Amino acid sequence: MLKTRIAVLVSGGGTNLQALIDAQKSGIIKNGEIKLVVSSSQNAFALTRAKDAGVDTAVVSRKDLQTQQAFESEIKKVIDEYKIDLIVMAGFMSILTKDFTDMYPDRIINIHPSLIPSFCGKGYYGIHVHEAALDYGVKVTGATVHFVNEIPDGGRIIMQKAVQVRDGDTPQSLQRRVMEEAEWKILPLSVEMISEKFAAAKNGTDGMLQER
Ligand code: GRF
Repeated sequence: MLKTRIAVLVSGGGTNLQALIDAQKSGIIKNGEIKLVVSSSQNAFALTRAKDAGVDTAVVSRKDLQTQQAFESEIKKVIDEYKIDLIVMAGFMSILTKDFTDMYPDRIINIHPSLIPSFCGKGYYGIHVHEAALDYGVKVTGATVHFVNEIPDGGRIIMQKAVQVRDGDTPQSLQRRVMEEAEWKILPLSVEMISEKFAAAKNGTDGMLQER
């Protein structure tokens, strides 16, 4: 049974990567296999999580490469070397342009810590998303998994989960709850849902008419 080959793009703590690693171990992700972790930063703790789980890693740092184009072709090189089917951006803080996303249509997904279309797009990342939610005074926020295209947080929505905002929440306490109650749940479920589809196609069990 061929499985979907997954690469996870990271930049920081890697708690979403950890959720994916744990979900693969527990069998929530059974049609996919994390084959590679690519970090945009040399000292991302996500790299330690990957190594502890026996997953191959690569570092492609934007500042070490002269141009965006060189950065993206380095990422493409290792993605293609590992014959990756599905690219998962999990706390990945670098920009990927249309040149890159157009090469992998409906094969790149991202986890965003709000209920898109709220608090998303340019400038809304990490803790800033939760600062904006608290500033606005929303009573409910959450997380969204979506396909990635050239528009920041603009691709088709795959899954969302709502989280209550509590009186006295700080951006940090809200971020933690959104991670625990939403991100770490819907990202593994979304990865398994898409992996199942990709694996069925790879194994010719997706009911599509097969070449004789
Ligand atoms: C989190 O805020 C997550 O919502 C966003 O990136 C931040 C760091 O995630 N996608 P991680 O701990 O590196 O997975």
